[in-house]
Amino acid sequence: PEEIRELLLSRIREVADYPRPGVRFKDITPLLADSKAFSLVTETMAAICRRRRATKVAGLEARGFILAAPVAVRAQVGFIPVRKAGKLPGATLSQSYELEYGSAEIELHAEDLTPEDRVLVIDDVLATGGTAEASLHLIRRTGAQVAGVTMLMELGFLAGRERLREALGPAPLDVLLTL
Ligand code: PRP
Ligand code: MG
Repeated sequence: PEEIRELLLSRIREVADYPRPGVRFKDITPLLADSKAFSLVTETMAAICRRRRATKVAGLEARGFILAAPVAVRAQVGFIPVRKAGKLPGATLSQSYELEYGSAEIELHAEDLTPEDRVLVIDDVLATGGTAEASLHLIRRTGAQVAGVTMLMELGFLAGRERLREALGPAPLDVLLTL
């Protein structure tokens, strides 16, 4: 509802020309510092996690970890870190994807997922959708199912939703705040 939107909006700080000229960075640290706003976000996401019948929550390094770990604990499901390349010690699956400039690579430990798992991907912001799309490919490559994607924010003008459409299939995209 409108009250929740106003509270969340008031706790996200826009920083002009960061990290590059022309970019308006959405800083969530004021939201994290406000226990009421942080709880509201994690409670709302945990309710989505239960509604989607997820058995695991995957958080996307780094900001996605901050949201996804408390959601996993509240929803009483396991947590899967999807990390930037080179950070996981075990047998990993890797997925590269294109960025605005250059490319990136993310990884996960496949052995922590089974074909019975339904995985909910959580991150702070859906921008171009490249990171989330790559995470969905990783999850499907383990044989696990995708329960959905849940984002704190969506930057509507970047059309990340369209980029995600094919990788999502029938799985739902839930967004708490569209900017
Ligand atoms: C940011 C953001 C999302 C991603 C969204 O992460 O936290 O994960 O970009 O962009 P996309 O939809 O265009 O892929 P980033 O890797 O910049 O930084 P972080 O490590 O602080 O999360
Ligand atoms: Mg990120």
